[in-house]
Amino acid sequence: NRATLELSNGVKMPAVGLGTWQATSGDMTTAMHEALSLGYRHFDTAILYENERPIGGVLNYWMEQGRIRRDELFVTTKLPPTGMYPGKVEPYLRKSLENLMLDYVDMYLVHCPNGIKRDEENTAVEDTQVDHVAIWKEMEALVDCGLTKAIGISNFSLEQIASLVKNCRIRPMNLQTELHVYFQQKELVEFCHGHGITVVACSPLGSPGLTAFYSGYGVVKNVPNLLELPLLTEMAKRYDRTAAQIMLRHTVQKGVGVIPKSTSPKRMKENLEVLDFELTTEDMEKLSALDMGTSGQITKWESWTWVENDPSGTPSHHA
Ligand code: A2P
Repeated sequence: NRATLELSNGVKMPAVGLGTWQATSGDMTTAMHEALSLGYRHFDTAILYENERPIGGVLNYWMEQGRIRRDELFVTTKLPPTGMYPGKVEPYLRKSLENLMLDYVDMYLVHCPNGIKRDEENTAVEDTQVDHVAIWKEMEALVDCGLTKAIGISNFSLEQIASLVKNCRIRPMNLQTELHVYFQQKELVEFCHGHGITVVACSPLGSPGLTAFYSGYGVVKNVPNLLELPLLTEMAKRYDRTAAQIMLRHTVQKGVGVIPKSTSPKRMKENLEVLDFELTTEDMEKLSALDMGTSGQITKWESWTWVENDPSGTPSHHA
């Protein structure tokens, strides 16, 4: 039932994890207790999400209570765009580890291919000229010194991954990328799987909460609600599941992990329960046919406002 995905370092990562982007720090403590009680063991965060502290707080509370061991957990966090410069990689991971109150993370990902730097007017601007190979060397060093078990990338294109694969000592072990029925990224997934790189889908439900989350900024508009697609509601009835479960199952059944975000106990439970049923080949194909290619991408990175977030704690609203 594809409950775990094996990374090239031999570690098994639970195929369903809890996504925490858009989860406020305030919601996170309650949500974490609930998630751990429900059986979540894989947690995905990032320094940019500004919720590492409550996540770490609850994980440590459970470990201190003897209710869970560190080796049962799989914790991922990410290097922010402001950390895409020589000498900044390890300090950022150390800051995340301090927030999480952990000695190591299970996976550290480069959050996105671009950096953020200051221009002559001291304005934070997106930097598309980052030296990925130089940054990757510092990522590799983090594995050597045991601060993370695995390293990977997030939001990288096939070309960017291919070039890294050619020029690395330790291959990226995982790619995290937006992936759902509208944006299935088949070629990218095939490439990664062919190179021993696991894939984890972020926004696996198509981020139905995105517009509300960003309403104050106006950078993401008219997000389609995939959960209302007729094919999904029809299948949901037929399998006696929810549209969200059908969508997550479709991705998991292709061997791709999912990290749906939820802070509601009911929906967290629902999202975890996608390993105990199977879609028929015919239904898998029907769902695969919903793919809209690049126009199906919902989070549209390039149109977003980039706000600097450095370890000194400037607020950020970036994914
Ligand atoms: P909530 O936290 O209130 O459950 P994605 O992971 O694709 O970004 O989707 C996350 C969004 O989808 C959040 O707004 C979340 O809201 C909502 N969501 C999560 N799980 C479900 C579900 N099973 N059914 C409907 N909506 C869900």
